[in-house]
Amino acid sequence: MEFRNLKAQYRFLKQEIDDAIAGVLESGRFIGGPEVDSLEHELAAYVGAKHCVSCGNGTDALQLALMAWGIGSGDAVIVPDFTFFSSGEVVSAVGATPVFVDVLEETFNIDPALIAPACEFARKNGLNPKAVVAVDLFGQPADYPKIQQICQEQGILLLEDGAQGFGGAIDGKHACSFGDISTTSFFPAKPLGCYGDGGAVFTDNDEWAELLRSYAVHGKGSMKYDNVRVGMNSRLDTIQAAILRVKLRAFVDHELDDVNERAAWYGELLAWSNLGLPSLQNGFTSSWAQYTVVLPQDVDRADLQNHMRDYAAPTNVYYPKPMHEQPAFAGRSLVLPCPVTERLYKTVLSLPMGPYLSVDELRAVVQALPL
Ligand SMILES: Cc1ncc(COP(=O)(O)O)c(C=O)c1O
Repeated sequence: MEFRNLKAQYRFLKQEIDDAIAGVLESGRFIGGPEVDSLEHELAAYVGAKHCVSCGNGTDALQLALMAWGIGSGDAVIVPDFTFFSSGEVVSAVGATPVFVDVLEETFNIDPALIAPACEFARKNGLNPKAVVAVDLFGQPADYPKIQQICQEQGILLLEDGAQGFGGAIDGKHACSFGDISTTSFFPAKPLGCYGDGGAVFTDNDEWAELLRSYAVHGKGSMKYDNVRVGMNSRLDTIQAAILRVKLRAFVDHELDDVNERAAWYGELLAWSNLGLPSLQNGFTSSWAQYTVVLPQDVDRADLQNHMRDYAAPTNVYYPKPMHEQPAFAGRSLVLPCPVTERLYKTVLSLPMGPYLSVDELRAVVQALPL
């Protein structure tokens, strides 16, 4: 069994994907071009954002947003302590200081009530709080109705890290449309993944969209060889765009429904267990980038993973370390107390998940759990 069954997805979409790749090879156009333009339009329309700027990966997407906002030295950016490294890495990469705050036990997402205290804490430390990176961890959007209001009150910008959130929604409004700028990743195992690296940035703001396009292509000005700012080289390959166009159709057509069906099956089959099951806020839907359960504190997680492996059921730990304990942030970050993260990183376990996980595989995972 695969942790995320990308081979089954390829078998299902093989003809269309092979044709799409062949089309690009025959066109001789490997960077930019109509495939990339069309994908950007399709993604923007799906998400409900005015602009989509594709780029090299989800990490660059986040960094491009911070660059477009001119965030740098002396600025603070609030980041959840329980997330993938990139969400905070980009803050340091532009010279700003991440301020790590705790998440909510029920959703794994940033606790909105901690944003204002984190701004205060940053100011006390001589920094200018400029933005919050809210992460849609494991596929459920963060609590944007609350976060947006707090950002307005604090006068800070909202960056939605939708790397795992693409396809989720709040009251029908899609993830990657909640931030002043929002981003996603097309890493292969993500809800919408390509066959390599890829990412995208979304915004309704015309000026930021132009800056994003400039920073993503060496700070270009009116034309490619007019470089008006120092940027980066971060583009989505045409082949990846062609693959993503096929996959986006399947995602919208059935994959998102299928993965939600599997989440419901897990929920039913594990209802009897002593595991903490993922829960959705009222009106929120998830794209189930991960199906993550919380183990009782007395369970030896490594033993359990070995046991599951013996039953051919792969598991993963997302994430085994809080951000504030990452050596890379030592001496260049601030942190508020994070008791929830301190518990979660020791007890979370992600189970095989995805729209192509078969009923038999899912049953086998549940049977392999000795709980
Ligand atoms: C929450 C989060 N943010 C950012 C990223 C970075 O995406 P990429 O791997 O495409 O750079 C990831 C990828 O794992 C992620 O999970």
